Amino acid sequence: MLIARRLPAGGKDRLAECCSIKEGGLAATAELLLTLAPGVDAIVADPTVSVGEHLLEAAGPQLRIVANFAVGHDNVDLDACRSRDVVVTNTPDVLTDATAELALCLTLAAARRTTEAEADLRAGRWHGPDPDGYLGLELRGATFGIVGMGRIGHRYAELVTPLAGDIVYTSRTAKAGVERSPCAVRVELEELLRCAEVVSLHVPATPETVGMIGRRELQAMKPHAVLINTARGPLVDAPALAEALREGAIGAAGLDVYEHEPDVPDELLRAPHCVLLPHIGSATTSARDAMARLVADNVIAALRGAEPPNRVA
Ligand code: NAP
Ligand code: GLV
Repeated sequence: MLIARRLPAGGKDRLAECCSIKEGGLAATAELLLTLAPGVDAIVADPTVSVGEHLLEAAGPQLRIVANFAVGHDNVDLDACRSRDVVVTNTPDVLTDATAELALCLTLAAARRTTEAEADLRAGRWHGPDPDGYLGLELRGATFGIVGMGRIGHRYAELVTPLAGDIVYTSRTAKAGVERSPCAVRVELEELLRCAEVVSLHVPATPETVGMIGRRELQAMKPHAVLINTARGPLVDAPALAEALREGAIGAAGLDVYEHEPDVPDELLRAPHCVLLPHIGSATTSARDAMARLVADNVIAALRGAEPPNRVA
């Protein structure tokens, strides 16, 4: 099998008991993967590994499974896999808490401008408390807008409930349980953007969601609003976000994901009031270990001809 980049020991050691493993490593390029893929029965990918016709073709007709080390699977061409009878799996649930907690962390950091304050302190630019310095947004009583009330969106709603005044959400389908606990009201995106002090994105990247937050949507938000994206980079138009931050159309942003990772757009690096993290939503010891074990469960099931537990295609 081919581990396109790297898999934590909890999964890799189990796979090593039954498979011979090739590994691309963290710096694996698309070209390297094409040279490693021929003849493998399984590929373990992650969000930065594009699995499409080229890689599937290079692997060959014996390929049985693409196991994504992530819950999101927009990096995998599901139709191309289906047409070759290649199973695709992901790692849901086990990273829900970690990712929702990171969204909360970004929310607090962006609202209180902790990144710029710490950068100033470390650079020797702090000359004592300034009554007008680093003024941020107090979250008690704020309206939270959750775009995508799935597993992570729901956990984020639970985490912010002690702070929130109101919680509103968008979803393709109504979530009866969520309307009771935590108490959240389903609205259209336009209304959510208009009324929320914090807008947090939790939808997958799909043709319907890509570009859903552009210039018009940012202009519709409150001037002190905070935008959080732990979902996928392409949901947000990065140049429009940088412009909105520069012009004060919104108050702050906290991002964990980017369209062409690991590249981070220059305009975001330069934008004010912007907290930027390197895609660490699921980066807790327990979540990463559980994800790796799920990958191993899925690969082993598929190679034995059984139904893998987390099949998405
Ligand atoms: P999930 O349980 O499937 O939730 C996704 C939610 O989005 C669902 O409730 C779905 O609605 C909703 N949705 C889909 N398309 C929509 C649309 N066009 N408009 C409004 N709502 C829409 O997935 P999850 O486990 O919470 O994960 C969500 C995403 O987070 C993943 O796809 C991944 O991209 C991202 N993620 C990032 C990290 C990180 O490290 N930063 C870690 C984990 C996940 P329905 O319920 O009606 O289908
Ligand atoms: C990470 O980005 C994931 O989708 O699990």
